[in-house]
Amino acid sequence: MDHTSSLGLSRISLQNMFMNFTKGLIVTALVQFVLLIRCCNSIDSITTDQAIRDGEVLVSNGEVFELGFFSPGKSTNRYVGIWYKRDKEKTVVWVANRDDPINETSGVLSIGAHGNLILYARNQSNITLWSTKSNVSISSSSTPDPKYKAQLLDTGNLVLVEQDNQKVTWQSFDYLTHTVLPLMKLGINKRTGFKWFLTSWKSEDDPGTGSYTYAIDPNGAPQIILYNGNVRYWRTGRWWWSDVPVVLATSFSNSTFLNNQDEVTVTWDLLNSSISTRIVVDYSGTIQQFNWYEQDLGWNQIWSGPTDRCDYYGRCGAFGYCDSESINVFECKCLPGFQPKLPDEWNMRNASSGCVRKLKSCKNGEGFIKLVKVMVPDTSWARVDMNLSWKACEQQCLRDCSCLAYTISSNAPIIGCMTWYGKLVDTKNFADGDQDLYLRVDALELGILFY
Ligand SMILES: *[C@@H]1O[C@H](CO)[C@@H](O)[C@H](O)[C@H]1NC(C)=O
Ligand SMILES: *[C@@H]1O[C@H](CO)[C@@H](O)[C@H](O)[C@H]1NC(C)=O
Ligand SMILES: *[C@@H]1O[C@H](CO)[C@@H](O)[C@H](O)[C@H]1NC(C)=O
Ligand SMILES: *[C@@H]1O[C@H](CO)[C@@H](O)[C@H](O)[C@H]1NC(C)=O
Ligand SMILES: *[C@@H]1O[C@H](CO)[C@@H](O)[C@H](O)[C@H]1NC(C)=O
Ligand SMILES: *[C@@H]1O[C@H](CO)[C@@H](O)[C@H](O)[C@H]1NC(C)=O
Ligand SMILES: *[C@@H]1O[C@H](CO)[C@@H](O)[C@H](O)[C@H]1NC(C)=O
Repeated sequence: MDHTSSLGLSRISLQNMFMNFTKGLIVTALVQFVLLIRCCNSIDSITTDQAIRDGEVLVSNGEVFELGFFSPGKSTNRYVGIWYKRDKEKTVVWVANRDDPINETSGVLSIGAHGNLILYARNQSNITLWSTKSNVSISSSSTPDPKYKAQLLDTGNLVLVEQDNQKVTWQSFDYLTHTVLPLMKLGINKRTGFKWFLTSWKSEDDPGTGSYTYAIDPNGAPQIILYNGNVRYWRTGRWWWSDVPVVLATSFSNSTFLNNQDEVTVTWDLLNSSISTRIVVDYSGTIQQFNWYEQDLGWNQIWSGPTDRCDYYGRCGAFGYCDSESINVFECKCLPGFQPKLPDEWNMRNASSGCVRKLKSCKNGEGFIKLVKVMVPDTSWARVDMNLSWKACEQQCLRDCSCLAYTISSNAPIIGCMTWYGKLVDTKNFADGDQDLYLRVDALELGILFY
């Protein structure tokens, strides 16, 4: 029995040897093939058994974006990021481990057992420094060991896909860092409370979470606001009538605003594939948009903000009005019917205490003064009623003693009425604008102005 068994064994061993030999050939061929792929046709994805080490990259299929390890500015820390492939400067648009740097080059990005991307450093005891937190529940999966693929798309989106059913379980576009790219969303998922917003880096050398955020405030009429910490820093001047889906287009892009039961979001899309564009909030609190046309050698800034004295949020306090047109004149005024709360301070060109109403009266012959071409006050304190006529809007404001001002939609066919309560903050002139503000004033003030 032993003999047969040992014979059997040795036959098996021989067979194994042969199979191992052929396997070896195949493996060698495969390795060479893989090396060949790695060398000349870069890969755009890794699967459950593969990894990206520091020095290796993923390149999106159309060679638009590249993912790999980098050190920003003067830093020697290593981060996993995504940048434009053709950009010699490696302008980074997304960072994975922004607050968890690796201090040397032993980083490895791979897909862990639970279908999440994990980043660890071989030299830091293999501790996971960063990982995606996708909502994959292992038990609910049909196969016992589902395979995942992490793929870098030409849009700049890194997606984690369950291979059996092509379900996207995580995407970098949901975790914005300091850059908005076309097809990313800004806004809020009303069902889950999940927010899409930008956060600046800490400095040029540190992509860690900085203090400036760029987000949609859904209150009143939704608007995009730049915050420093929790404090409003700049209103972009973009706001929307609630509930009305809006598509806006420029020569090369269109944006869609949605406000329904599920979400309040704005998405932005490119209409010309030969243009690259990105909006960045930098560590000093400046927002800039850059374009790169096919024929260009690099990025061109097309706008930035905040730019002038009146851009800083609430520059002239509550009920103030900011006008930076005249260079040598104090930019702050009080709205008609209001006067400085603290005249001494105001005369020292400090408007932070704002203005107060001269006369307080209600239902005593008040009317409205029209301020033309203004950026309307912070719309968080506004109420929006759609389908009200101009007259009905005015009546609605007059009826309520706490109503301070109103404006109506200037772009037909949307008929909107917006009324303000509480306070009017961050009102300023906006020469390029087409919105007028109707400010409620008492009869006497109307008299002063018109006679
Ligand atoms: C990197 O950080 C680890 C702790 O996370 C530390 O033990 C190690 O000494 C650091 N290495 C260098 C080169 O600073
Ligand atoms: C890991 O650390 C050792 C010594 O601490 C160092 O010699 C080696 O270069 C490091 N490896 C990498 C990949 O950084
Ligand atoms: C993931 O699951 C948690 C817990 O069930 C939930 O709170 C969260 O909203 C989910 N996230 C997403 C993006 O679905
Ligand atoms: C932009 O316009 C195209 C074509 O009209 C449309 O298919 C796409 O959905 C729009 N994208 C956005 C974000 O509005
Ligand atoms: C797209 O942009 C390129 C480069 O600026 C321009 O030459 C081309 O006319 C544009 N195409 C369209 C359809 O606007
Ligand atoms: C303006 O006045 C406020 C007090 O009302 C004060 O806190 C602030 O420092 C003053 N600003 C300047 C620039 O003097
Ligand atoms: C406004 O009126 C139009 C047509 O009368 C109607 O289709 C639409 O639903 C109304 N919108 C709102 C917000 O009431």
